[in-house]
Amino acid sequence: MRKELKSRLSVIIHSPNHNTDDKLLKICQLLDQEIDYFNWTGFYFRNGDKEELVLGPYVGAATDHAVIPFGKGICGQVAVSGATFLVPDVQKQDNYLSCSMDTKSEIVVPILKEGKNIGQIDIDSHEIDPFTPEDQELLEWICDELAKVLV
Ligand code: SME
Repeated sequence: MRKELKSRLSVIIHSPNHNTDDKLLKICQLLDQEIDYFNWTGFYFRNGDKEELVLGPYVGAATDHAVIPFGKGICGQVAVSGATFLVPDVQKQDNYLSCSMDTKSEIVVPILKEGKNIGQIDIDSHEIDPFTPEDQELLEWICDELAKVLV
């Protein structure tokens, strides 16, 4: 299944006919559609040289967290660490920014371009501990592929 999903994602990522925001939104839509427990799927990007993230394309409920300072929440911590952060149960995290009462778990994967942390993909789930190693591998693969096409 993941192999087929990757090939569909690859077509989107490397499409010459779509601009970056279109590609990012289509990735969110496809993941949201194909993986039941992905209940909010979106991107955040570093705001120029500022130590803050800004919300990019997403699918899911509107969020109050359109701007996140580095270090704040799961996203802000990944902006600093440059490492995947898997949170099986958000209630057990002190440094967490709640977007929705329904969210029970979250995974954030950085997009590293030439070693620089330029943004991230963020997935929230309404289930506790749903994310598999296969999900993490898929999201890291997406971020690696995106790093090749994002400027
Ligand atoms: N929960 C995130 C904030 C972003 S929302 O999930 C869309 C965090 O703690 O960084």
